[in-house]
Amino acid sequence: MTGGIAVYKSCYLVREIRRQGGDVCVVMTDSASEFVSPLTFATLSGNPVLQDMFPESPPENPIHLQPSDWGDILVIAPATANFIGKLANGIADDLASSVCISFSGKVIVAPAMNPRMWDNPAVKDNISILRKRGFEVVGPESGEMAGVNENAGEGRMSEPDKILRQIRESLAVTDDLSGKSVVVTSGPTREPIDPVRFVSNRSSGKMGDAIAKQAALRGANVTLIRGRGAEGEPPAEVKTFVVETAAEMSSAVKEHFTSCNLLVMTAAVSDWSITNPAKSKLKKHVGEPDIQWKQTEDILAWAGQNRTAQAVVGFALETSNHLEGAQKKLKEKNVDMIVLNDPTQSHSSFGGDSTKLTLVANDKAPVELPVCTKKEAANKLFDNISRFLQG
Ligand code: CTP
Repeated sequence: MTGGIAVYKSCYLVREIRRQGGDVCVVMTDSASEFVSPLTFATLSGNPVLQDMFPESPPENPIHLQPSDWGDILVIAPATANFIGKLANGIADDLASSVCISFSGKVIVAPAMNPRMWDNPAVKDNISILRKRGFEVVGPESGEMAGVNENAGEGRMSEPDKILRQIRESLAVTDDLSGKSVVVTSGPTREPIDPVRFVSNRSSGKMGDAIAKQAALRGANVTLIRGRGAEGEPPAEVKTFVVETAAEMSSAVKEHFTSCNLLVMTAAVSDWSITNPAKSKLKKHVGEPDIQWKQTEDILAWAGQNRTAQAVVGFALETSNHLEGAQKKLKEKNVDMIVLNDPTQSHSSFGGDSTKLTLVANDKAPVELPVCTKKEAANKLFDNISRFLQG
């Protein structure tokens, strides 16, 4: 954000990006902070605002490279005549301009200035330089200026909704799940041994959470059924129910399944539960506990048997005979797709941020996705699932 009165509109922009599932890091020039306090943006974005090139306690990594490494897209809203001039001429004399010059992804510029400034030939030339370099320029619009005594004309910053549409378009975020209800399960389940001990697995829930978030980003109404023990916080934009045991997960899925269009079973559901959990803590002097096991209900298979119009996608954790295992599960559980995951590979291991998935369906040959982040994998997964939702 650079220094113009239109900074006030960027409050709504930041809020909407968050509401639609994006993460925002705000970088402000000193002049921008004259109009709206950095505290407002820190609160709205949920992240510290970057303003100072030389903060009192320097971070480990160069501060001007942090947003450049982290962001998928850079939005300059509002962009003043002065800042547009700096961008066009490669000037990096403060944190905001240094961030811009080190950013290699897509850039959206939303100019905002008085009409006489916008008409200036230098500004026009600078804008055409930015366009030639591939920057997306949104607006400015014609109409009233924010200042009471300013004449109307072309120079108003575009409304946040228009900038948002451009962000979605530039990131190729589609609305293809709009109006659909999606149920996603994530994380491990826990089977109690006694009131303080349980049997569980290493699932972090990161893949399921990324899938739930991606579905929300694509416009779906998402219910996330999340096993206790999944790491971190669930995505803010989805309705989350926390469950503990496989039986609780099964009831929660059954409750939401009838009215959903798609179920994605990412959770690592325990295959066995303990039939005789102790009512009080087992004492070690009594010796090894007598634990009786029984198989849990296969929730995915239940969904495959009971579905009407719902699309159903399961995951398969296979450590050997990968493809055969996935194909067997696809058939036996009567689902549209099995997403194959080999947790023994370092890039696919439990708890990591990257993964390598293979999508196995009946209607075409398996699709091998490249090693990528779980966020990217979730996006690619939905590109491949949408065909089961049409009609
Ligand atoms: N699943 C389920 N209910 C269970 C166990 C698994 O719904 N009680 C789901 C998982 O969420 C996943 C799929 O079934 O989508 C496959 O899970 P996986 O652990 O790979 O296989 P299992 O069916 O449990 O079979 P096995 O452990 O023998 O490989």
